[in-house]
Amino acid sequence: MNESIFHIRHAEPGDAAALVELARAIGAEPEGWLITNGEWRSSSEERRYLRAIRRSPHAAVLIVEAAEGVVGRLSIARDPHPASRHVADLGLMVAQGFRRRGAGRALMAAAEDWAREAGIQKIELHVFPYNTAAISLYGSLGYEQEGLRKGHLRRGEELVDAILMAKQVGA
Ligand SMILES: CC(C)(COP(=O)(O)OP(=O)(O)OC[C@H]1O[C@@H](n2cnc3c(N)ncnc32)[C@H](O)[C@@H]1OP(=O)(O)O)[C@@H](O)C(=O)NCCC(=O)NCCS
Repeated sequence: MNESIFHIRHAEPGDAAALVELARAIGAEPEGWLITNGEWRSSSEERRYLRAIRRSPHAAVLIVEAAEGVVGRLSIARDPHPASRHVADLGLMVAQGFRRRGAGRALMAAAEDWAREAGIQKIELHVFPYNTAAISLYGSLGYEQEGLRKGHLRRGEELVDAILMAKQVGA
């Protein structure tokens, strides 16, 4: 891991503009890492969303703050279905100029801590089959591939495949 100083904390409504900028930049990368292709909610919608998340015991948005500003984000939320309330789904992104410095791994560790505290037993996520960096990160943390979900995600006009990965994090 490169030497890098950063701090992980819960996002506050005041982080909205920086988080929108981060998501739009990563969504616009030509590789297509995210479901969004550059579109994201507005800063005011993001602010409202973050305010609601801060009040909820069932979801969290964790961010990485560095000297450069906000350089990473992880969102995690409990599944609302009564039969799968022990499961949470997460999404992750780190700014292009800040990758391979341990931020993704640190966000994943913080998410697991939050999940255990919230009584969640299993974390799942979806990743595009070509996203070898993310698949490698998740695999190194003990996430297993549970299957290929065909045409599971809408990306613009297209329905695309996604790998479902998951890890048991609590008893
Ligand atoms: C996937 C992503 C979140 C990883 O974040 P990161 O901060 O770069 O990850 P880390 O520095 O914590 O890497 C941890 C480990 O993951 C693996 N890894 C990360 N990037 C990798 C890459 N490009 N190639 C191979 N392995 C990689 C390595 O095992 C790495 O450990 P190492 O650096 O000691 O070898 C980041 O690349 C990203 O934001 N990509 C664009 C958005 C995205 O794909 N989000 C996930 C959608 S499912």
